[in-house]
Amino acid sequence: MIRNFNYFIPTRVVFGPGCLEQLATIAMPGKKAILVTFADLSMSRLGYVERIVGLLKKQNIDVVVFEKVLTNPLTGTVDEGVALMKQEGCDFIIALGGGSPIDTSKAMSVAAANGGRYWDYVPAGTGGRKPVEKSPLPVVAINTTAGTGSEVTPIAVITNPDTNEKVSLRIDELYPRMSFIDPELMLSLPKGLTAFQGLDAFLHAAEGYISRQSQFITDRFALEAVRLVYQNLGECVNNGKNLEARTSVALASTLAGMVIALAGCITEHSMEHPISAHFPRVPHGAGLALIFEQYFTKVVEKGTVNDRLIELAQAMGVKVEGTDEAARAMCFVRAGVEMLRACGIDRISHEAFGIENPDVDQLTEDTFGYSSGNFVRDPYELTRDDVREIFTKSLLEAK
Ligand SMILES: [Fe+2]
Repeated sequence: MIRNFNYFIPTRVVFGPGCLEQLATIAMPGKKAILVTFADLSMSRLGYVERIVGLLKKQNIDVVVFEKVLTNPLTGTVDEGVALMKQEGCDFIIALGGGSPIDTSKAMSVAAANGGRYWDYVPAGTGGRKPVEKSPLPVVAINTTAGTGSEVTPIAVITNPDTNEKVSLRIDELYPRMSFIDPELMLSLPKGLTAFQGLDAFLHAAEGYISRQSQFITDRFALEAVRLVYQNLGECVNNGKNLEARTSVALASTLAGMVIALAGCITEHSMEHPISAHFPRVPHGAGLALIFEQYFTKVVEKGTVNDRLIELAQAMGVKVEGTDEAARAMCFVRAGVEMLRACGIDRISHEAFGIENPDVDQLTEDTFGYSSGNFVRDPYELTRDDVREIFTKSLLEAK
């Protein structure tokens, strides 16, 4: 039976190798842009900033460059960017990079149009909960990574370093006006980032498929996205110059972004946010890799969506074996762990990522505190004891 659904993704998606050149011809939503990108200057070093400025010049669009964004972007950076765009008279925002610059740009678009500081508009934790009354300024996303899906979602995730809160703002007006997904820009991504981002895309699709808000269209996108990641991510990690594999994972990431835009994530993502908020050197994908096996083993134990896990495994091309449903659903978990191993991220070094004395009680509290939004989408009840157990097994006992 086909269930009722509500589909809304207003972003123009320009996809494919070489598509960045179309920046010179596709009409932009303003006259002067602020280009928001990473603080490590990597986008300048790769020549992308200069190339984009040159392409937009052909349309007589001026660009002010703001290279200040960190991994796990901060609310202070958002305010600094808004101050610069006001000073320079910019009327739209170009985000260059992955989820961090895109989310920073979305947050800037809210504060620039509505005034005040960004945290005034954050709807949870210590956020000011002010309504976003004026339409945010347009954002054009140029994606150089394949994972977050932020290029097609109405979600911005920003961290407040004073309180260690990592909070999402989700409103329809935050969908980027347009997004360029050019896999050629992804050829030089390092192995680790490729693996973490690819896992993020995989989990957006898998979580959205399990979500109570899944719908006909997102289900199709999710099954294709998990297949594309499962069959191509190892090749992207081990042979980064393979454009066909990069294109497959880029498509998966965008499809998976559309899945979470509509079906949302479940509590696996809620559990990751406190990890990377407390340990800011942990990339989002690394936090997900840490909890993947224990989280989904618990989901199998709950037993309410084992049919969906089996469907995911079958879409991935995994041989589903076993006599009972739980054993068959575990094939999904084992294949996922196998994928982590093939990508070299099955063991996350606490030392390398600055994870010191993880406080599982605090992480549990924070999962239910500022990251509670996904619980309504879980088709099972994840209790405090469950969350504490998953953190304990993933962060303490696994070492
Ligand atoms: Fe994610």
